[in-house]
Amino acid sequence: MLEELQSAIDPLDDVLAIVEQAIVDDPPFVLRDGGLIRDGFDAQLDELRSISRQGKGWIARLESEERERTGISSLKVRFNKVFGYYIEVTRSHLARVPEDYQRKQTLANSERYITPALKEYEEKVLGAEDKLVQLEYDLFQQVRQQVARQGRRIQQTADSLATLDVLLSLADLAHDRNYVCPQIDESTELTIVEGRHPVIETMSLAERFVPNDLIMDTEENQLLIITGPNMAGKSTFMRQVALITLMAQMGSLVPAKEATVGVVDRIFTRVGASDNLARGQSTFMVEMTEAANILNNATPRSLVVLDEIGRGTSTFDGVSIAWAVAEYLHDNPVVAAKTLFATHYHELTDLALTRKRVKNFNIAVKEWNDQIIFLRKIVKGGASHSYGIQVARLAGLPAAVIDRAREVLKNLESGEYETEGAPRLAKSKGALPAQPADQLSLFSQGPDVLRQRLDEIDVSVLTPLEALNLLDQLKKMV
Ligand SMILES: Nc1ncnc2c1ncn2[C@@H]1O[C@H](COP(=O)(O)OP(=O)(O)O)[C@@H](O)[C@H]1O
Ligand SMILES: [Mg+2]
Repeated sequence: MLEELQSAIDPLDDVLAIVEQAIVDDPPFVLRDGGLIRDGFDAQLDELRSISRQGKGWIARLESEERERTGISSLKVRFNKVFGYYIEVTRSHLARVPEDYQRKQTLANSERYITPALKEYEEKVLGAEDKLVQLEYDLFQQVRQQVARQGRRIQQTADSLATLDVLLSLADLAHDRNYVCPQIDESTELTIVEGRHPVIETMSLAERFVPNDLIMDTEENQLLIITGPNMAGKSTFMRQVALITLMAQMGSLVPAKEATVGVVDRIFTRVGASDNLARGQSTFMVEMTEAANILNNATPRSLVVLDEIGRGTSTFDGVSIAWAVAEYLHDNPVVAAKTLFATHYHELTDLALTRKRVKNFNIAVKEWNDQIIFLRKIVKGGASHSYGIQVARLAGLPAAVIDRAREVLKNLESGEYETEGAPRLAKSKGALPAQPADQLSLFSQGPDVLRQRLDEIDVSVLTPLEALNLLDQLKKMV
């Protein structure tokens, strides 16, 4: 391939020669003001330039000559667009103005004059300059046409260089970041040993990036349900699998220790929570539209990544939809694609009991003193807890809210309901904070109010002035 590319690269020496002969090293940005064409390229242009230069030299000399002749040391030769070149004499020296000066304009402190000789040279200079600019423009057009006639060769070479550039960049990246050459075949398998996320692994995280393995196929491991608390690394893992597949198929090496990639026909994704809000569709609607597209178009050769589908609606609706989507992707042989399915609905792990190709995985966490530690390792089996409350505490929710949430959770889990069906949590002691309110707002709520305020800001619609005011506001809040 490199040889092919090389043979397609044309050094374009003839085109280079045209440009080098005709155009100055540092041409101006506009074409109409001249200064584009090199000296020596065109005889007529050189001649016009020399006339213009000589004329300007003569006019410059005129000033000192006239000063001497008239004895007016402050006499000046100037230029403006209306009168062209003129001689200016200040009021106090008017008595010494010679006869041959023709008055052109009277100002408060001075008079402006022309002389026939001055006008004669001016005509030469300005005439030459007009012609110069036009001639340069014409010459430039000619050069451009000459170059354009070689357009095909230039484009072909640019194309080869672009391809070479992409290959070189991929090679450089693969070398710097220890990528491996994936094995690519026609199977429906996808095996990754110690895969990494190509972007996250390069970010300076507080922790080391933890690589993960994956085995998928269409026989045993078609639909992987991935559970685990928020922040465990579900989305990262799924995206890294999709990216490794994509990179492998585009001919890149991949961030892993080993990888076997059966060629896929498409990668379908449903990820991200608030992506399309700006276009006026609710999160849930976007989610469902994308899910519909996947279910209508996936094939057993596809790779499907579903991240927390059903999150945008009520719990019961959400579980039901997620469940039915997963079942369909498993049961319908037309769309039975390799699927990674991250969910916080633990109920979905039950699918593995009745569906042969469904496997449960979770991202391991460790409980320690009522806290959680993220291990970032994907392991077999469903997650037992969602650890939502622990994660909420990590995020800085006030202790009183965390305690109350724990209480509500306990009641919910023990399934105690009133006779009318209302959970007993409504009955237990209220959510009043144990500490005085102002103390809470000072020490635990402060950062969250800020965070909330920041979260509400849509930077894309702020004017610079609004942004400044906002910054001032935030500063006051702090
Ligand atoms: N394998 C990993 N190694 C190190 N850090 C990770 C790893 N996976 C995820 N993280 C960190 O955890 C954060 C949350 O991961 P994310 O995939 O969004 O979690 P989830 O989708 O489970 O809520 C990431 O932004 C990243 O900083
Ligand atoms: Mg996620």
